Amino acid sequence: MPLSRRIPIVIALTAIVITLTAISLRGQTFDPTLTDPDAIAMECGGDALAGLPHYESRCADCHALTPEAQQTTAPHLAGLYGRPAASLAGVSYSPQLSEMFHIWEGETLHQLLAGEMSIPNHPVMMVEQDRRDLLTYLRTETRPAPPKFEDVRVPTHLLTMEGDPAYGEYLASECASCHNAGAVSQGTPDLAGRPREDFLHLMVAYRQRALPNPIMQMTAAKFSDEELAALAEWFATQKPPNEGG
Ligand code: HEC
Ligand code: HEC
Repeated sequence: MPLSRRIPIVIALTAIVITLTAISLRGQTFDPTLTDPDAIAMECGGDALAGLPHYESRCADCHALTPEAQQTTAPHLAGLYGRPAASLAGVSYSPQLSEMFHIWEGETLHQLLAGEMSIPNHPVMMVEQDRRDLLTYLRTETRPAPPKFEDVRVPTHLLTMEGDPAYGEYLASECASCHNAGAVSQGTPDLAGRPREDFLHLMVAYRQRALPNPIMQMTAAKFSDEELAALAEWFATQKPPNEGG
C-alpha cells in the first residue's frame, strides 16, 4: 500500500485510541461503589453537614431523596450518583433533559447546578464550595447499600498485583497489637499463613462495608491497592500459628 494511503488509516486509528482513552478516563471520575462517608467527602471535596442546609433550602421543596418520600412531579434523587440523566419511569422530563445522554456524577452535577445545562427554570448555585458541600451531602444520603459479603469480588488488577513482602512487613506492624498470638485467644483471627486471595477478599469486603467491624472498615479503607497487595504477600508467607514451632 502506498504511504499516502496509509496515513489516513493511521490518523483514523489514532483518533479511535484517543477516543477510547478519553472514555476510560471519564469513567474514572467516580467510583459507583464508594459508600464510606469519609471517602465520599474526600472525593466530592465538601462537608455533608454544611450541605444539608443547602439541600433543605434549595432542593427539598421539589426533590425527595427516596422514591417513598416523593410528593412532587420532580424526580427523586435516590441513587443519584451513577444514574443516567432523565431515566426515572413515570417522570415527564423536559425534551432538553431527555436528550442528554450522560451519567450523573461529580462533573455533570456541577454543570447542572452551575446553570451550564439548558434545563428550564432550574435553580443555579454559583459558589463552587456550596455545590461541593451539597453534592457531598446528596451523595452520602443517597449512596447505595453495602454489597452482601457473598457478592464482594476482588478486582482482577488487585488479585494479580505483585506485592512487596518487605513493605508488607513494615505495614503489618500496626496490625500486631490486635492480630497476634495473644489476641487470638480473645477472638481476633490470626492472619499468618492466610492465602493471598482470602486475605484480599476480606480486606475488600471491609473496604466496601460488606463486613460490619468499624475498626477494620477504617483500616481497610486507608490502604491503597499496592499496600493491600504487599500486606497480602507478607501474611501469606508467614507460618500459621499451629504449624512448626
Ligand atoms: C422548583 C423545583 C426544583 C428545585 C427547587 C430543584 N429542582 Fe432539580 N429538577 C426539577 C425538575 C422539574 C427536574 C426535571 C427537569 C427536566 O425534566 O428538565 C429536575 C431535575 C433535576 C436533576 C436531574 C434528575 C434526573 O433524573 O435526571 C437533578 C440531579 C436535580 N434536579 C438536582 C437538583 C438539586 C441538587 C437541587 C437543589 C440545588 C434542585 N434540583 C432544585 C425541579 C427542581
Ligand atoms: C484495634 C484492633 C485491630 C487492628 C489494629 C487491626 N485489626 Fe484486623 N481485625 C480486628 C478484629 C476485632 C477483627 C474481627 C472482626 C470481625 O469479626 O469482623 C479483625 C479482622 C480482620 C480480618 C478478617 C479475618 C477473618 O478471618 O475474618 C483481616 C483480614 C484483618 N483484620 C486484617 C487486619 C490488618 C491487615 C491489620 C493491620 C493493617 C489489622 N487487621 C489491624 C481488629 C484489629
